[in-house]
Amino acid sequence: MVTTPSTACQSARELPAPIPDLPPPNHRYSLRQRCLSLYHEVWYRLSERIRWSRAPHHETPIDRLSGLASWQATRIDALRARYGVGFESHYGRPTALANYAYLDLLDRAWTAVNRQPPQGGIVTDVGCANFWYARTLHTFFRPATLTGVDLEGFRLYPTGYSRYDAAAGYVADLPHTSFVVADYCEVNEQADLMTAWFPFVTPAPVLAWRLPLALFSPERLFARIARNLASNGTFFMVNQGTDEAAIAAGYCRQAGLRPQDQWIHPRPLRERPHPPVASWWSH
Ligand SMILES: C[S@@+](CC[C@H](N)C(=O)[O-])C[C@H]1O[C@@H](n2cnc3c(N)ncnc32)[C@H](O)[C@@H]1O
Repeated sequence: MVTTPSTACQSARELPAPIPDLPPPNHRYSLRQRCLSLYHEVWYRLSERIRWSRAPHHETPIDRLSGLASWQATRIDALRARYGVGFESHYGRPTALANYAYLDLLDRAWTAVNRQPPQGGIVTDVGCANFWYARTLHTFFRPATLTGVDLEGFRLYPTGYSRYDAAAGYVADLPHTSFVVADYCEVNEQADLMTAWFPFVTPAPVLAWRLPLALFSPERLFARIARNLASNGTFFMVNQGTDEAAIAAGYCRQAGLRPQDQWIHPRPLRERPHPPVASWWSH
């Protein structure tokens, strides 16, 4: 359903100290950043006004993943066997591989810190893009409901389909799964488990994702995550590298969340510029 409302395992004590790196006020952005932001703002507002949508878009499945290194192929075989999934029967190569990479991270991270993934609860993913990894979250958490929320819903792809159409395709055959276009800072929905994969905690990635800096408000975002997290719920976050994880940890603490565990992926299935850092938070 798609809706648009208006290997190192570290204990909590060893989490890096928060870096007091709050975003600079608007006037401290460089001229180039402000111009870029303005440009992105025009396109963002236009796309949200037009709300272009053709029909749910389904990727053409690649059916067989070839050209993998042998360690990747071995790991993917293990994930297929363990979770009974075959992303290549649903998606093209990049999306299939990216789903295996997220499932690999989930599987390794939760095992490394000795946690059982909660099953059957209300799960919300914050900042899900077009929710291309909904099937992975669904497979791993077996949720009662799964909701992906992103504030940008109608970015137009070169295919002529929008992000909304892509999301509709990704959630189409997943029970009780939906994509919601909303600023999460305004969402009032309790969840037992909240996930956030690579949330923006510094301004540069916001511009790299072609979004205006006006939408960058990590204090409000993390405060809302803390507010919507059920009293015995878990917030699971993945950040890009330890520096970004430390900044994100600062925002979590500021929002009143307490660190539970942290784990750094030693060898992601898909190469990344920085190792993914997983962390678990609660009230
Ligand atoms: C770096 S991207 C990560 C996307 C996705 N989680 C992934 O792993 O591919 C961050 C995403 O968060 C979304 N986002 C940023 N602020 C948000 C907010 N306040 N509410 C909802 N989504 C937000 C952006 O639109 C973007 O799609």
